[in-house]
Amino acid sequence: MSDFFQWDPAKLSLHVPEMDNEHQVLISKMNKVHSLHASGASHANIALALDDLVRYTSKHFADEEAYMERIGFPGLRVHKGVHRQLMDRLADYQRTFQTTRKLPDDLFVFFKMWLSAHICGIDAKYALHAQQAKAG
Ligand SMILES: [Fe+2]
Repeated sequence: MSDFFQWDPAKLSLHVPEMDNEHQVLISKMNKVHSLHASGASHANIALALDDLVRYTSKHFADEEAYMERIGFPGLRVHKGVHRQLMDRLADYQRTFQTTRKLPDDLFVFFKMWLSAHICGIDAKYALHAQQAKAG
């Protein structure tokens, strides 16, 4: 079975190797949650994969924020706010899953939005800043 979420470098690469690597790990962890869900895995197994994704996301956002700080990205504060919102939504999904024992239907739509809108739209801004800083 092919992966539900694909790493498509033409769309998702920021040309910042450390962040590209982390985004690929993030996608593989989203795929793990999806494949467990699709194969009817137990609540406990899905919960473990979801916990792992939440932990990794928090590490990734911290790394990304440190990177933006390092390159002097002026949009850091706004970007941090967006990360906080994403973490809050993820925590909401996790809570719903714990209470209802079912993954909310729109969780994977949320993941898709995160990958397309956040990485392509929001993360692309610090990548552009890094390129301009290098060129200048
Ligand atoms: Fe980000």
